[in-house]
Amino acid sequence: MPSRINPSILAADFANLERELGRIRTADLVHVDIMDNHFVPNLTFGPPVVSRLAQVSPLPFDVHLMIDNPERWAPGYAEAGAFSVTFHAEATTNPVGLARKLRSIGARAGIALKPGTAVEPYLELLPEFDQVLVMTVEPGFGGQSFMPSTMRKLGTLAATVRRTGLDVWLQVDGGITEETIVIAAEAGADTFVAGSSVFNAADPAAQIARLRAAADEHRHAH
Ligand code: DX5
Ligand code: ZN
Repeated sequence: MPSRINPSILAADFANLERELGRIRTADLVHVDIMDNHFVPNLTFGPPVVSRLAQVSPLPFDVHLMIDNPERWAPGYAEAGAFSVTFHAEATTNPVGLARKLRSIGARAGIALKPGTAVEPYLELLPEFDQVLVMTVEPGFGGQSFMPSTMRKLGTLAATVRRTGLDVWLQVDGGITEETIVIAAEAGADTFVAGSSVFNAADPAAQIARLRAAADEHRHAH
């Protein structure tokens, strides 16, 4: 399975989002960062914008909720047609209940871990999820530097996925470039979010191809 590259529209031109979606049509999914100015100190967009964008997007949506109270909001994104909805482990006391709700609506369920959050308590919950998002920066802003310290967590996840044979995508998000994608691929990631490195490139499609090739070359056969 080739590596998945999910450009984050946080780095796109917000005045021209439909056109920006057209520049990344060779990507696998569109990563959509939802921030509420509570869970993280930044604010982006909400359900009406996402449902309208989903109508004009040629690619499925990978929604990343950096919000408090995901129980209240996450199902709405699934109902709006998101292919995948990922909420933060730190924001909920009932991750399994919410994952089941999302799956019952027809979306893939994802759980995200901030850099300081240990993965061990979540390993036994993996059958309830389709994706784990290992944050490789502190959530809240694009354009930050990749934190190599998060790779140990990815190694633990990759080993668990290999051992159990579960079909769970392992996603990294934050500071992914042609250099850091190699480190994440070697650690076991198969799904890569990239904001600034894709949208700041002169040719986003060529950059997506470069990122995918770099990841494919360094992923171990699972
Ligand atoms: C950060 C977001 C990321 C961000 C990545 O809180 O979750 O998805 O858009 O942007 P880059 O690739 O620029 O680090
Ligand atoms: Zn994100």
